[in-house]
Amino acid sequence: MSVGTPSLIEFLSRHTGIAPSYIRPRIDTHHTLPFDHVPTDLIERLLVQETSFFRHAGQWSMLRSMLREDPGLSAAALRVWSCGCATGEEAWSLAFLLASEGRTSSRVIGTDISPSAICAAARGHYTRLEAMGSFREIPDFARPAFPHSSGEAWDAPQMLRNMTRFCVHNVLDPMLSSELGGSADLVFCRNMLIYFTEDAVRKALANIARAMRPGSILVLGASETMRETGLFEPVETASAVFWRRTAAPVAPADTAAAKP
Ligand SMILES: C[S@@+](CC[C@H](N)C(=O)[O-])C[C@H]1O[C@@H](n2cnc3c(N)ncnc32)[C@H](O)[C@@H]1O
Repeated sequence: MSVGTPSLIEFLSRHTGIAPSYIRPRIDTHHTLPFDHVPTDLIERLLVQETSFFRHAGQWSMLRSMLREDPGLSAAALRVWSCGCATGEEAWSLAFLLASEGRTSSRVIGTDISPSAICAAARGHYTRLEAMGSFREIPDFARPAFPHSSGEAWDAPQMLRNMTRFCVHNVLDPMLSSELGGSADLVFCRNMLIYFTEDAVRKALANIARAMRPGSILVLGASETMRETGLFEPVETASAVFWRRTAAPVAPADTAAAKP
């Protein structure tokens, strides 16, 4: 079956969670496709993959303190999920921070809907550009380990590779606890939900909550707002961008994301 553009936009929105207003300017308005053949490159075109190491510096210093003080993050080996990790800088930053705190038995999984981003993330090779790109927000404690001059590269060291892995995953589908190795202690889901429809935000939050144990911590982007779901409560910090998973049960997963 061929569909016209409005239906294609709607289909792409249902599959990715991204609101039609972000999709419309990014796809050919005359595009028609068979429903079961939406190519990955069309989906890739919708995705904003802006990221950097230790993005939003304030959140990382808050997390560093919480790793030392918060009972929800006290386990020596944490299970950490970087959800919507783009090209991996966020996941590698998490592994770096945990290793610098002596928590090398922790495990970090980075997931994204984009296969090309996950490929780049797993490669773990980043070059410093003139404009600083990936390395624009390196905090003092990490600075010696990252490139200082344009053209220099950072390769994820073996110790961080042992802690970290990546896989393609759509946040509108439930996360398998076998992928995480159990319930997550810490989830980063930053700067992704801002592009989503309200329905998709709620579905993503439910899927994330389902993957977390009570007392664990969710970090949203610095400008993102939580919805009233009863699944999370704010952590008392200067800005409530950290959320603690409550013990409230999550309703069973409803329909999975539409498949391309
Ligand atoms: C702006 S980047 C944020 C990267 C990183 N979390 C950060 O804050 O720097 C948003 C990422 O969300 C991913 N994304 C969009 N829709 C998704 C979905 N339904 N499931 C998983 N990832 C998705 C995009 O591919 C993109 O890499």
